[in-house]
Amino acid sequence: MRPLIAGNWKMHGLNADLHEIDSIAALAARTQPHVDILICPPASLLAAAARIAADRIAVGGQDCSPEASGAHTGDISAEMLKDAGAGAVIVGHSERRQHHGETDALVFSKALAARRAGLLAVICVGETQEQHASGAALSICGDQIVASVPLGMRAFGLAIGYEPLWAIGSGQMPTSQEIVQMHAHIRRRLVEHLGAEGKNVRILYGGSVKPSNARAILALPEVGGALVGGASLKSAEFAAILACAPQEGATIAAE
Ligand code: PGA
Repeated sequence: MRPLIAGNWKMHGLNADLHEIDSIAALAARTQPHVDILICPPASLLAAAARIAADRIAVGGQDCSPEASGAHTGDISAEMLKDAGAGAVIVGHSERRQHHGETDALVFSKALAARRAGLLAVICVGETQEQHASGAALSICGDQIVASVPLGMRAFGLAIGYEPLWAIGSGQMPTSQEIVQMHAHIRRRLVEHLGAEGKNVRILYGGSVKPSNARAILALPEVGGALVGGASLKSAEFAAILACAPQEGATIAAE
């Protein structure tokens, strides 16, 4: 399985920052890494980012509407993201679930929209600090998988982002053992839910991934890549994370 390293810019980035995408795309073109690279800038930059990436790396949206079009002021459809040059969309990020009240059912319908538009859906799950402390993390995330992932999703159209909420932007991290346990659990739930197709879905770890910890995380069993927030904003830092992806053959040399 080729690892997927995805950058989530969240609500950061102006036109003046697009050169960061060009730097990563140039690095990818030069080194042909054995890793899929995705950057999800804010929607305002998506079309420009896609033009700059020019198929050297993929760009994606951070959210989409379940609907294809209609009277939904402020929303953006998966078809519109695709039209702007996106190859993927993040759905169900915890910041959407927490701050916009997104339920598993809504995330499910957004994942269906991504599939309808031909986008890779990166469906996020994760537990809160309290759920982690109470030992409920595995069952919470397993249930989120079953309720958020539409039946019939194919592995090429789906990635899961496991992001413990308390690890996002905090510098805190689960132990390696906790990550391994959770990814194995998500894999089991995916296979129960999707059948054999579930074996090939990439499960990304997210939450405070940095150059200093990426190598250890990406080497863990069932970790099929990373979803990177803060450390994806600057190309030098993101390139240093890409260089940590396990790969045979070509190597990425961070500048
Ligand atoms: P972080 O964010 O890398 O800044 O912790 C990850 C995410 O929320 O996707």
